[in-house]
Amino acid sequence: MVSWRSLLLGLQVVAPILAATPADWRSQSIYFLLTDRFARTDGSTSATCNTEDRKYCGGTWKGIIDQLDYIQGMGFTAIWITPVTSQLTQDTAYGEAYHGYWQQDIYSLDSHLGTADDLRALASALHERGMYLMVDVVANHMGYDGAGDSVDYSVFNPFNSKDYFHPFCLIQDYNDQTQSENCWLGDNSVSLPDLDTTTQDVKNIWYDWVEELVSNYSIDGLRVDTVKHVQKDFWPDYNKAAGVYCIGEVLNGDPSYTCPYQEVMDGVLNYPIYYPLLNAFKSTSGNMNDLYNMINTVKSDCPDSTLLGTFIENHDSPRFASYTNDMALAKNVAAFIILADGIPIIYAGQEQHYAGGNDPSNREATWLSGYSTTSDLYKLIASSNAIRNHAVSTDKGYVTYKNWPIYKDTTTIAMRKGTDGSQIITILSNKGASGDGYTLSLDGTGYDAGTELTEILSCSTLTVGSDGKVPVPMEKGLPRVLYPSAKLGDSKICT
Ligand SMILES: *[C@@H]1O[C@H](CO)[C@@H](O)[C@H](O)[C@H]1NC(C)=O
Repeated sequence: MVSWRSLLLGLQVVAPILAATPADWRSQSIYFLLTDRFARTDGSTSATCNTEDRKYCGGTWKGIIDQLDYIQGMGFTAIWITPVTSQLTQDTAYGEAYHGYWQQDIYSLDSHLGTADDLRALASALHERGMYLMVDVVANHMGYDGAGDSVDYSVFNPFNSKDYFHPFCLIQDYNDQTQSENCWLGDNSVSLPDLDTTTQDVKNIWYDWVEELVSNYSIDGLRVDTVKHVQKDFWPDYNKAAGVYCIGEVLNGDPSYTCPYQEVMDGVLNYPIYYPLLNAFKSTSGNMNDLYNMINTVKSDCPDSTLLGTFIENHDSPRFASYTNDMALAKNVAAFIILADGIPIIYAGQEQHYAGGNDPSNREATWLSGYSTTSDLYKLIASSNAIRNHAVSTDKGYVTYKNWPIYKDTTTIAMRKGTDGSQIITILSNKGASGDGYTLSLDGTGYDAGTELTEILSCSTLTVGSDGKVPVPMEKGLPRVLYPSAKLGDSKICT
């Protein structure tokens, strides 16, 4: 079987395709958006979008192109967009397929979101800015409006017969791995027919498809849905056929369960960190100890913690601000995401302190914020990405240096990342906005006595003491990010 890409290369009609590797992705910072909810072609900032209706709200790929300044202005270098394939068309018991996880035809695009040319234009617009495009893909299932035993398989392209699927059974026990892989997600209202990914037919179709998709739309990376619902041995060849960095969703917080998936795929979303991170910062009585320990566990148990995706929000989890409206806590958690190990992922709307709870409330339209670039979190994210991007470009060892937690107490954690002499020190607190001020005498930063440091978020300076300790002024529960002033060079940070 001659692939589309090798055909093109064979005919030498295109420039060499520069596939983005895991090493290329390690230094990126990702803005994740649900295409239907981020930006409309008409640029509206007032078009109604009632999340509880679960209907298409009008976001498009064209709309994204017009808001790339907004995204890049926060220092992001890549976007991850929700699935692009053609979906079921009904208004089901759970609304419409605006999120993209109910595909029926894998060879055509969801026309609500735009045309093939629009998607290619988005890739080009990103590449002109030196940014990457990551697309969400689903290999586990299709989507159907109705009960599992009532599926008319002829609606699927190309999986148009029962033979491509596992026999119908709903997953009852998510801890049972065999059931998770062989039975179906969804329920008897919207069924998610589960492809039999153990058959060579299904494997061949998916491997050819993913190679074509990446090539047809110049995609730089893939976010892979429901990875733990497909048997592990399906993934290495899928990842290889894609030819670009793949990051999988393995929705499980146990590192002994989730880390081994990194043996079959380049990276996984860092659910092991997600839970202790949330618990550390969602209230002023959160637990720092568990977060501190999990940083070390993930470092030692996952094949490579620097290729995981770090996040606190997504379209499946309640927004951080649905737990607490304390802005200081939201700042600390955002700083952690950007300055810990792995690839930072911020979900559209997090920068506007959106507070929706469970799905579908957490899928608010970003346009209703007016794309403010002066909100507290927009600025905090921009500053945090700026120092990370500076470290990435000036310190070759930054992204592969494994984040080292150097200090903890009941309300504070401090971490060190980067080559000696240009390490970034991040100090986070869960005291909250009404927390009292004090000076933390921080040891173990590795900075030489007398070094002048810049605190990146407040643009103030301090000096390492003669005993090597750093007197860090903590106030109002705010995060602190330290960096040697002399190494700021021409970065324009804090000038
Ligand atoms: C890629 O493009 C080719 C040529 O237009 C088309 O035949 C193929 O179906 C496309 N594949 C995907 C996955 O979009």
